[in-house]
Amino acid sequence: MSNEQAFERLQSHLQAHQQAHLIHFWPGLSPEEREKLCNQIGKLDLDRIDRWVKDYVIHDQSAKIPDHFGPAMAYAAQPDTPDMTEKYVRATALGEDLLRQGRVGAFVVAGGQGTRLGFEGPKGNFPISPIKQKTLFQLFAETILATSLKYGTRCPWYIMTSPLNHEPTRDTLEANHYFGLPEEDVFIFQQGTLPNFALDGQILLSNKHTLATSPDGHGGSLKALFEGGAVAHMQARGVEYISYWQVDNPLINIFDPLFIGLHALDGSQMSSKSLVKTGPMEKVGNFCLVDNKVTVIEYSDLPDEAALRRHPDGSLVFELGSIGIHLVNRTFVEQLNAGEFSLPFHRAVKKIPHITPEGKYVEPDEPNGIKLETFVFDALPLASHSMILKTIRSEEFGPVKNATGVDSAETSRQMIIDRAGAWLESIGTAVPRKDNGQIDCVLEIAPSFALTPEDLCKKADRIPEIKPGDSVYLSD
Ligand code: UTP
Repeated sequence: MSNEQAFERLQSHLQAHQQAHLIHFWPGLSPEEREKLCNQIGKLDLDRIDRWVKDYVIHDQSAKIPDHFGPAMAYAAQPDTPDMTEKYVRATALGEDLLRQGRVGAFVVAGGQGTRLGFEGPKGNFPISPIKQKTLFQLFAETILATSLKYGTRCPWYIMTSPLNHEPTRDTLEANHYFGLPEEDVFIFQQGTLPNFALDGQILLSNKHTLATSPDGHGGSLKALFEGGAVAHMQARGVEYISYWQVDNPLINIFDPLFIGLHALDGSQMSSKSLVKTGPMEKVGNFCLVDNKVTVIEYSDLPDEAALRRHPDGSLVFELGSIGIHLVNRTFVEQLNAGEFSLPFHRAVKKIPHITPEGKYVEPDEPNGIKLETFVFDALPLASHSMILKTIRSEEFGPVKNATGVDSAETSRQMIIDRAGAWLESIGTAVPRKDNGQIDCVLEIAPSFALTPEDLCKKADRIPEIKPGDSVYLSD
């Protein structure tokens, strides 16, 4: 086929889907630019895109609330009956066995844009530890290394990036020698992208030969794990359970034997940790039951009447908040990818930089387009069984989302200090506190020193006396 014929074919294909503007600048493009544009267009499934435009861009199908839903059930953070105590002991032992056998892999999703934090570079490079200023990536790597040593195994680490941050993420890890992990235990792969749309459904161009795209949401991880080769790597390594977390949570307990054990004992395919919400309107997804399946309903979609409903004892009926911590069976990811699987889209109206038909680059002041994303928790109803474990906020959830205020570096860092203080006090170490109860020193415990209060207890003789105003870094 001649170049001209190929172009005409491309043109009529695009015209049939009202996207012919994508080749508006064709005459002025260099051969390389044309090839780049053709490659991107070639990857679009325009029939599906027509459906997305109709269902999500022009109309909004994404916020559909089911007719009937109720609250989901969860295991308590601490066992509350003798039977449960026995089950938690059994689950913890099983979880530890699975860790020893190397059947659990760590998986962080780090492909987001991090717009709210406004940090230059991958969010995982954000310095967060209170004394040593270790980055999020360093803390995770040290935790994985310490866990591997503790259980006499090698836990592989899977990191999902996006085209926005893949290279800098890889470069950081390489330059820092994977923070002590063997290189072959770190597997970095990219998630997919989706085109950005104008409000009328036309795909936007970010320059004359490039489509405007953005990462396809953390839900994209379930495809990317498979397509990016991580699942094959897991198979080869004997990894069966994937411990999923978000890059912005330095308090994450990556390998929690209790969570792993309960998940395995219950035969769950995808499990979640949850928090009891601070109030009815806390901005976290709500764990609900829809047709007997665990389903997350976003805070913005849960009707106020349901959010405000309380039990006679005053507790919220919809009390379980979703915090982006899951365990996923590798075989579940394989099963999803064996068929035509797609998660529902969530639409966000955003300011999207683009090029106008006149060739002018615009950074809009007002929202001008639609970004589509999928969310990982939308896979929960696809699981044959899904378990939820309540957790304690101060132990496991201190996200760095914003530059200042709520869920910022400052609050997260304080939570790291507070947790270290609570662990030290739990083993009988005196921690200076102000009259108002706030910790009056700066504390940081290296993962190599202790991953839990029990680890800390074994090293009690190495903990110095802590005086008000001290900065105490405990490390091996
Ligand atoms: P957030 O929803 O907090 O989004 O992501 P974000 O992009 O990090 O930050 P904002 O909203 O632009 O400020 C939660 C987690 O999901 C990952 C993020 O990296 C973070 O760990 N994520 C999000 C992806 O890996 N890919 C995506 O496409 C979106």
